[in-house]
Amino acid sequence: MILIDGKKVAAEMKQEIAEEVKKIVENGGRAPHLAAILVGHDGGSETYVAYKIKDCEAVGFKSSLIRYEDDVTEEELLSKIDELNNDDELDGFIVQLPLPKHISEQKVIEAINPKKDVDGFHPANVGRMVIGLPSYISATPYGIVELLKRYNIETSGKNCVIVGRSNIVGRPLSVLMSQKAVNATVTVAHSRTKDLEEVCRNADILIAAIGVPEFVKGNMVKDGAVVIDVGTTRVKSDKTKSGWKLKGDVLFEDVADKCSYITPVPGGVGPMTRVSLLQNTLLSAKKEIYK
Ligand code: GUN
Repeated sequence: MILIDGKKVAAEMKQEIAEEVKKIVENGGRAPHLAAILVGHDGGSETYVAYKIKDCEAVGFKSSLIRYEDDVTEEELLSKIDELNNDDELDGFIVQLPLPKHISEQKVIEAINPKKDVDGFHPANVGRMVIGLPSYISATPYGIVELLKRYNIETSGKNCVIVGRSNIVGRPLSVLMSQKAVNATVTVAHSRTKDLEEVCRNADILIAAIGVPEFVKGNMVKDGAVVIDVGTTRVKSDKTKSGWKLKGDVLFEDVADKCSYITPVPGGVGPMTRVSLLQNTLLSAKKEIYK
C-alpha cells in the first residue's frame, strides 16, 4: 500500500507557483492578489480562511481579508462583491461558505464575476467545465485529479465510484474523472443508491466525499483499489493542541491494507485543496482562463 502524501505534492506545487510569481514580479508585473470574505466566526471557516491567507503569503501573493459580523445584510455583502468585481488590482476572490441563513448562498455565488470566481462555484464556470472549456475548477476536485496525475495512477478505463454528489466535490469531480484527459468510467453513488457496498466494491478508484466520518469500511473496498478520502469532519479531541481533530470518511485502519494507494486524513486531499485555490488565482492573474 502506498500512502499518498498530499502535503508533499502540495508543497511542490506551492514551490512551482512561488517561482512563477517571482518571475512575474521580476518582469515588472504585479503579484497575484486574492481576497477572501469571511462572515461571522464559525470555527471551521476561521481556520480555513486563515490558511488561505497564510498560503498566499507563502507563495508571494497579495491577500486581503474582508470580515463581516454574522448580522451583515445580503445587500451589504452583494455591494462589496460588486466592488471587488470591479477592482482591477484584484485577480480573484472567494466568499467563505457557509453563510448565515438570512443570506442566499446561491445569490452570492451568482453575483461574483465568473472571471474572478477562483472557487469555481459560479454556474458559468461549472457549465464551462462540463463542456470542456477552460474554467476555474473547484479546489477539491482539481486537487484530487492533480494528485492522481502526480502519482501516475492509471485512470483510463478504470471504474471510479464517487460516494457523494455535492456541488463542491462529488458532482464536479464526476465530470472531471470522465473527461478525455482522465478517461475513467464514473458512478456517482449517494444516499439512495441501492446496494452501496456492492457498488463500492466494484471501484478501482473509490472516492469518499459524503462528510460522514469513517463511513467506508473494509468490506466496501476491492483488493488493490485506490481510495481517496475527502472527509474532513472536525471532532473534539483532548489529544491535540487546538482541541479538534479531523476525521475522514474512510475507516483508515480497516481499509488501508486492501488498497494499492490511499490518502490519509489529514495530509491527503486537504493540502491539495488549499493549493488549488492558489493555482486558480495564478491562472486568473495570467489571464489563462478568460483572455
Ligand atoms: N467552505 C468549505 N469549502 C469551501 C471552499 O472551497 N470555498 C468556499 N468559499 N467556502 C468553502
